[in-house]
Amino acid sequence: MMTQTAQAPKLADDKFRMIRDLIYEMSGMYFGDGKKYLMESRLARRLGACGLKTYDEYYYFIKYDPGRAQEINRLFDEVTINETSFFRNPPQLDAFAKKILPGIVAEKEQKNTRNLRIWSAACSSGEEPYSLGIYVLESLKFSLPKWKVEIHASDLSEEILQKAKTGLYGDNSLRNTTPTYRSRYFVQANGKYAIRDEVKQLVQFQQINLSDKLKMRSMRGMDVIFCRNVLIYFDMESKKQVIAHLYDSLNPGGYLFIGHSESLHGVSKAFKLVHFPKAMVYQKA
Ligand SMILES: C[S@@+](CC[C@H](N)C(=O)[O-])C[C@H]1O[C@@H](n2cnc3c(N)ncnc32)[C@H](O)[C@@H]1O
Repeated sequence: MMTQTAQAPKLADDKFRMIRDLIYEMSGMYFGDGKKYLMESRLARRLGACGLKTYDEYYYFIKYDPGRAQEINRLFDEVTINETSFFRNPPQLDAFAKKILPGIVAEKEQKNTRNLRIWSAACSSGEEPYSLGIYVLESLKFSLPKWKVEIHASDLSEEILQKAKTGLYGDNSLRNTTPTYRSRYFVQANGKYAIRDEVKQLVQFQQINLSDKLKMRSMRGMDVIFCRNVLIYFDMESKKQVIAHLYDSLNPGGYLFIGHSESLHGVSKAFKLVHFPKAMVYQKA
């Protein structure tokens, strides 16, 4: 990533609003006025990388230039916040591993339909979908070959998806990972932890913008969706749209996890709220 140059231009309020409104239109992410200085340093890096001198030029470039798609992706890489870790928010993961997953598995065993479709929508660097993969392996154990397991993982940022695909992590990413899981599902080399292939091969990564209606409609038949810690960057209107799409993506009775500090209050009444110890999960009726 490039560092900011000393002569980085100041971002005037009106230019900040033009660009943040454009980012909002393209991604649903909304940056309030308090985020102007954070945006200034990030946009200055993109200006430098594109060889442009003013934010006006940059705005017209990403809005109209026929070759803008690649730069829009770089801009998304720059402005997204990718904080995550393995087994983030243990009570939610416990609800998934101890209650929801065994319930789905038992029901499907009974119906003799052994397919499992899980989606980590806004997966960042992959810790979330790989954590889910670990729990699937723990749950299915030796019956795994009888199952068709698909863990779909998507994010807006191409750069973060590249990192996710490598499956290589530092200590900080594993701060909630037990010693047993560290040794069972990771190989340690050169101070890094590499996720083992048996987990890696369960997860398929692709770029999906949660505001892209067409791509969202292509995701169907999910048993469980994790869409955690991303709706906080969206305004109410975009949240409503995203949640309506996620509802359609779920099978009847399917479960939706959002971040523990997020809520669907005022966003959707379509889900039933299911309570677990220290965690709440939304279920499609
Ligand atoms: C804070 S991380 C959350 C990662 C993970 N879900 C977790 O809870 O640990 C938020 C992620 O949302 C992604 N994101 C932001 N806007 C998005 C959008 N419009 N579509 C898809 N992903 C988006 C960011 O790139 C970032 O990786």
